Amino acid sequence: MPRFPVVTPQRSYDAIIERGLISRASGYVPASAGIVFVVTTEDVWKLFGAALESALRGRSFKVLFFPGGEERKRLSEVEKLAEQMVEAGGDRTSLVIAFGGGIVNDIGGFLASAFMRGIPLVQIPTTLLAQVDAAVGGKTGVNLVSGKNLFGAFHQPLAVLIDPDALATLSDREYRAGLYEVIKCGVIRDPELFRLLESRHDDVLARGPEVVDRIIAAAVRIKAEVVSADEREGDLRRILNFGHTVGHALEAETAYSRFLHGEAVAFGMKAATLLARGAAELPDADCSRILDVIDDYGPIPALDGIAVDRLLARLQSDKKTLKGKVHFVLPERIGAVRVVSGVPDNEIRSAIEEALTGLWGRMSSCAAVVNRRRPINNRPQLNKLPHIGH
Ligand code: GLY
Repeated sequence: MPRFPVVTPQRSYDAIIERGLISRASGYVPASAGIVFVVTTEDVWKLFGAALESALRGRSFKVLFFPGGEERKRLSEVEKLAEQMVEAGGDRTSLVIAFGGGIVNDIGGFLASAFMRGIPLVQIPTTLLAQVDAAVGGKTGVNLVSGKNLFGAFHQPLAVLIDPDALATLSDREYRAGLYEVIKCGVIRDPELFRLLESRHDDVLARGPEVVDRIIAAAVRIKAEVVSADEREGDLRRILNFGHTVGHALEAETAYSRFLHGEAVAFGMKAATLLARGAAELPDADCSRILDVIDDYGPIPALDGIAVDRLLARLQSDKKTLKGKVHFVLPERIGAVRVVSGVPDNEIRSAIEEALTGLWGRMSSCAAVVNRRRPINNRPQLNKLPHIGH
């Protein structure tokens, strides 16, 4: 089964994809570790707790339940978990297993990064989104009132254990939310993965084991390569934010309650793709294919009541995080993207409006808007990023 090395200045480790791996997790927890704290939710524990429990038989471990929900991914919850660890005798030899979806991986990872100034972590993601994105690469953290994931740390795990069998019980909606992050990987770096998502649509949605293993492996390979080249998101790692600029604005605007993260990213990818027609010269055919594949794995929840002005205001308030400029990851073609800043507000507005209303016309090409492109010398600044592989 595939293993993808993640090599960072902080630590090098493998993301391992193997069916049934949860029940073999013990092999990835060093014998020298003290108490193993499993951070999870009650739902995940009901489904997979027995498998992990049998894997940890003979070890000293304690299960800590997090109530779940993006709105509860807060510092106050980390403090509660840390107090429970101290009460249970946790010390610097303890280890955290973050066992669940993206939110559990974020909060459990952050807990490990800060408990006793940092203890080892093993990530066991159980949703597709966490398997292909959240659990790989060491980003951990919680939300602040002022924004998502604004408080956290890079804390690389000892291993990421990806068991695709865990996906069998995932709701259809959660599964599709994870598929959007896989689509993201295809657009930013892997035309072959993108074609696979187009051509094996029904098998992918039916969760055929062979194709599921392939798409997970392709996405994790990309994530591992990108993080290994740029752990701290100084440069290349920013490409993983395709769809996230507008996606985060949509999540914040709907108080993290209407859209799953992957669904918000799907909307953000549509907006970025529509924006890319003018700003990054995305060919019409590629533009249509990206919009179509996102729709084919949909739908996302209804967008009614979302005002473009409110999303634009959210983007502006995010400006402070990147030297006062809104940055977009825009596809140049399927498999290659650029990070772009300085896109005129009216173009951002049009792209978001079109994403909200679907005005581009499904299956019609993006040619209708090509004439709106600016002359070449009036294009926004394209920050060149290295392309490895494709
Ligand atoms: N989810 C984007 C990243 O890990 O950089």
